[in-house]
Amino acid sequence: MAYTGKVALITGAGSGMGRVAARLFSKGGAKVAALDVSEAGLQETAQGHPGITPLRVDVTDGTSVEKAVRDIESQLGPIDRVFHAAAIMPCGQLLKMDADTLLRMMNINYGGLVHISKATVPRMLERGKGDFVSFSSMAGVIPIMKMGGYSATKFAVSAYTEVLYHENRNRGVRFACVCPPSVSTPLLDQGRQTDWPKMLDGEQPLAPEEVIAAVEQGLEQGKLWIYPSKNARIGALVRRLFPNLIWKQVHQVEGW
Ligand SMILES: NC(=O)c1ccc[n+]([C@@H]2O[C@H](COP(=O)([O-])OP(=O)(O)OC[C@H]3O[C@@H](n4cnc5c(N)ncnc54)[C@H](O)[C@@H]3O)[C@@H](O)[C@H]2O)c1
Repeated sequence: MAYTGKVALITGAGSGMGRVAARLFSKGGAKVAALDVSEAGLQETAQGHPGITPLRVDVTDGTSVEKAVRDIESQLGPIDRVFHAAAIMPCGQLLKMDADTLLRMMNINYGGLVHISKATVPRMLERGKGDFVSFSSMAGVIPIMKMGGYSATKFAVSAYTEVLYHENRNRGVRFACVCPPSVSTPLLDQGRQTDWPKMLDGEQPLAPEEVIAAVEQGLEQGKLWIYPSKNARIGALVRRLFPNLIWKQVHQVEGW
């Protein structure tokens, strides 16, 4: 996308891929509304980037999201692009994690998508243009032990985005669902501080910039599903054709 004069809304912009996207779009001349719950993260993202407007918004709060979108459109202009990247990733076995944590994760990772899409997509459809990008994950393609809770949120993100696309295709808005493998961001540290699956230990994480570049390319190519690496594409294929092969490896690696 030529960024000059465009308006982007990014959730989870106080860290990781949201931050990288916010700075990249802003450097390219876009006006960026950066949403996050982390005030400190937002300040750091916006530091030295006058085109970034930091907004402390919790994506689980539909009323706040709706108000933020109204304010952004009246102050910055109609939103051209949405990246929903806000998420958390506590790991562990399903029966060992408490229900509150699992449901809170669903509320942020998936509930946030519901609120953001409802507040922005109808406006974009009315104008007949815009980009709507959901951040799913390879965890939303390949479920593994100790990542069941997070995977469930990402399967929900993928399914919601797929149906959202089909219900609104050919109306000028581009939809994309990106499924990255491990990416070098603070989310990985967050996961590692909990009961981290051994399966993910050997993975060399991608750089956030690689994922954002893949999203840009995928949007240009009109792709709904964006797998930002060759391994991710192969993984998705193997999961579809031979799911038990992957489970066999998961059991072997986790040791039970
Ligand atoms: N890093 C990875 O390995 C990886 C891999 C695949 C997919 N993803 C997905 O990519 C997206 C971006 O991840 P990241 O690695 O940049 O994560 P990150 O942890 O660096 O950033 C996530 C941001 O979301 C914010 N956030 C959390 N709860 C929020 C809420 N209720 N409201 C608003 N903001 C909230 C956090 O404060 C944080 O700044 C996520 O959806 C993640 O699930 C990440």
